[in-house]
Amino acid sequence: MNIAELSSVANAIVARQKGVLAADESNPTIKKRFESIQTESTEESRRRYREILFTADGIERYIGGVILFDETLRQSTRQGIPFPTLLSSRGIIPGIKVDKGAKALALCAGDKVTEGLDGLRERLEEYRQLGAQFAKWRAVIDISATGIPSAFGIRANAHALARYAALCQEAGLVPIVEPEVLMEGAHDIERCEAVTAQALEAVFAELNAHHVLFEGMLLKPNMVIAGMKCARQASVQEVADATLRCLRRYVPAAVPGIVFLSGGQRAEDATDHLNAMNAMGPQPWQLSFSYGRALQAPVLAAWQGQESNAAAAQHALLARCRLNGLARDGTYARNMEAA
Ligand code: 13P
Repeated sequence: MNIAELSSVANAIVARQKGVLAADESNPTIKKRFESIQTESTEESRRRYREILFTADGIERYIGGVILFDETLRQSTRQGIPFPTLLSSRGIIPGIKVDKGAKALALCAGDKVTEGLDGLRERLEEYRQLGAQFAKWRAVIDISATGIPSAFGIRANAHALARYAALCQEAGLVPIVEPEVLMEGAHDIERCEAVTAQALEAVFAELNAHHVLFEGMLLKPNMVIAGMKCARQASVQEVADATLRCLRRYVPAAVPGIVFLSGGQRAEDATDHLNAMNAMGPQPWQLSFSYGRALQAPVLAAWQGQESNAAAAQHALLARCRLNGLARDGTYARNMEAA
């Protein structure tokens, strides 16, 4: 493990004003996104869509890393430049999603565990050769009936995340560790905070037990937020307060950056929440974004699968990146949305 290299990549991804573009939708997920704009998902339409994202002018000022899906890592621009080479040449670090999705945890009704550890060492080696410098693994923690998630479900996911992270660092890739407490459901913000606290405590205990170097990783957590169906939605400041309180209790200061997922929040809300946290003054870690939907929803809406809309789609991406870049400094305001 090259400690200096891991830490330098982790820090570069969350350099000032920068965050991560999560463009690692699996084929079933991108199919759903394309269906929302009546666009067929084919290898070529997926390639072209990602090409539009990765060639957008100016995004390198706000995007330090892009997470790719296996298929995308192997695709190229129309001119034949492999996507990882294109991104690197723009100063954007290519990364790769390596988990194989969340499945039901056997004999634990209601809990899920993420698969993908078998053969991971060999896959990481190949991904590194293809140009990836970091990786991502997502654990899914659902809050539903009483007792879900169970303490054992949380532990099983934390263990898998730590095994993944250790394999990444062994291979020279920075692990992005993503324990996602879902916002689906009717739970209140207090329940989200309690479950997020439990998950983070378990994750860092396992990372430590697996000898993962905190300086050479990034954490990708959910924000502490009420469930979408909860009658009482917390204010922006309440979300910022609860999220920071939780992170300050459980995330070691040695971790260089926290890159939030958006999880189904509206793009403006995800930016607002990040901004409010950064406006609260310096924290032990960089507070940044690793948004999928909150960066891409406006892009898909502008694109509509039409080549004639490619420039408008790139414009929408740059606009969203710029606003999140401002949120990194705590200088975003809602009235900038119209500009
Ligand atoms: P969202 O920002 O859409 O939640 O996606 C981020 C991600 O990478 C989920 O794994």
